[in-house]
Amino acid sequence: MTSVAEAEVSSARAFLKDLREEIRNHPGVGHSLLSRMFMDPRTKHDFRVLASQHYPLVANFTAYMELLLLRAPTSEAKCWIAKVLVDEYGDRSHGADHPQAYRAFMHAAGIEPGFESDFPLHPDAVDFIREHYRICTEEPFLVGLGAVGPGHEWSIPTMFEHVLVGLRKAGFEAEEMAYWTMHLDQDADHGDWLEEALVEYCHTEEARAQVRHGALLSLNAREKFWWGVLDKVNTELTKSAFPGIASAALESGSPQPTFNHIREELEINISFGGEMSGE
Ligand SMILES: [Fe+2]
Ligand SMILES: [Fe+2]
Repeated sequence: MTSVAEAEVSSARAFLKDLREEIRNHPGVGHSLLSRMFMDPRTKHDFRVLASQHYPLVANFTAYMELLLLRAPTSEAKCWIAKVLVDEYGDRSHGADHPQAYRAFMHAAGIEPGFESDFPLHPDAVDFIREHYRICTEEPFLVGLGAVGPGHEWSIPTMFEHVLVGLRKAGFEAEEMAYWTMHLDQDADHGDWLEEALVEYCHTEEARAQVRHGALLSLNAREKFWWGVLDKVNTELTKSAFPGIASAALESGSPQPTFNHIREELEINISFGGEMSGE
């Protein structure tokens, strides 16, 4: 006979299985910028633009998890989060933390070392980061866990598989794409580990609603982020041909801040005065 505890675990796992399916079908994961990697020609310059917007997300990711680690209500949940963090700090990437691995990719895409954080950011890239600090500090813990677990670790392998199709078309060498390829395996593991933390909590409707809410908040911000990246890529392609036409990606009116400009305002620095690093 099945015990009450076993029944709770299997119903939590059924909820998480459905959530995985919902995430796979979210427009933030299957955004046209990603799916068109299969159809459109791609150049290293396109990825230089993409990386200029994506790097600040990569560099802030561990800060969200570190904030959640402090708030995790049990040691078991802390262990699963810490396990993911150890990888993000470089445990399975020859000691290079993930932002460091990303910077190597940026250099291969033509960005000068030392200038990685000097690009004007699309408003939706800045909003993505601010929204995740808000989720991880102001929303209930399970909303935060939904955002970094299902919202990030479950969705990244699918998104990155699409990006890799474009990277290969653009002519990147295998070692230049290491940041992207290592996330296919690592984030499958990270997603599974965070699922173990989630199973512990997803026994009530309220808890499940919080986890799903966090995942959707993150993916909604992700969808807007990809639109912002697409706008930046398209603007690069058209600005020389149509110099009079402005877009959200252009600096019309007030200048767009760079990552270096916004660093100091972000939550982690305000609260702890620490350096940032991450996904
Ligand atoms: Fe990860
Ligand atoms: Fe990562």
